[in-house]
Amino acid sequence: MVVVFNMKFQKFETKRLILKEITIKDAPSYEKNFVDYEVIRHLASTVPWPYPPNGITDFISNIILPNQGNERWFWGIYLKSNPSELVGVVDLWRNGRPENRGFWLAKKLWGQGIMTEAVEPIINYAFNELGFEKLVFANAVGNIASRRVKEKTCAKLIDVKPAKFVDPKYTEHEIWELNKQDWIFFYSAKTEV
Ligand SMILES: CC(C)(COP(=O)(O)OP(=O)(O)OC[C@H]1O[C@@H](n2cnc3c(N)ncnc32)[C@H](O)[C@@H]1OP(=O)(O)O)[C@@H](O)C(=O)NCCC(=O)NCCS
Repeated sequence: MVVVFNMKFQKFETKRLILKEITIKDAPSYEKNFVDYEVIRHLASTVPWPYPPNGITDFISNIILPNQGNERWFWGIYLKSNPSELVGVVDLWRNGRPENRGFWLAKKLWGQGIMTEAVEPIINYAFNELGFEKLVFANAVGNIASRRVKEKTCAKLIDVKPAKFVDPKYTEHEIWELNKQDWIFFYSAKTEV
């Protein structure tokens, strides 16, 4: 049995969402919403496709639970209107590859601003509690929705480089940076009354 004890994990609530720890009980909804080529094709080629049977339970047991809070943080996304269904994930990690964050959302919920809403408290937490001075993000060139989430959260495009994705039609990725000062300025202006 893996006992996960960490002081660093923080649950969040936003207007529409709960962002909380993922457990093995989430495996069925994780699988239902993630194992979809329309979601997975946008991800780095290190994600297997076809997705293996038991892949989700293995990922939760072998990657999420042992690493949670140990320089890697995973938040499940749940709608307040249906808090038992995991509908997406945001993860953050300390050592950039070069990026420090990944995310996905169930296709049925795309285009409603949900991921933009989910990443805001996590960016605040990264800068204010986890000690990041800068966050690096990446997405396939052509992944417009993911690019828009960066644009809407004040990240700056800094580079385009070759990269491999599950969908072989993607051949490059955009690299973005968000620094702490820019975020604090942007977020305080946004939340000012
Ligand atoms: C990327 C992803 C998480 C975005 O989630 P989301 O909740 O739909 O994102 P948001 O609604 O906050 O923002 C998406 C934006 O992209 C826009 N968009 C999406 N597809 C678009 C298109 N084809 N053309 C133009 N704009 C598009 C939306 O209109 C929205 O912008 P707006 O708010 O200015 O209207 C979701 O699409 C997803 O899970 N995709 C598959 C996995 C993935 O790509 N993960 C990221 C890998 S880097």
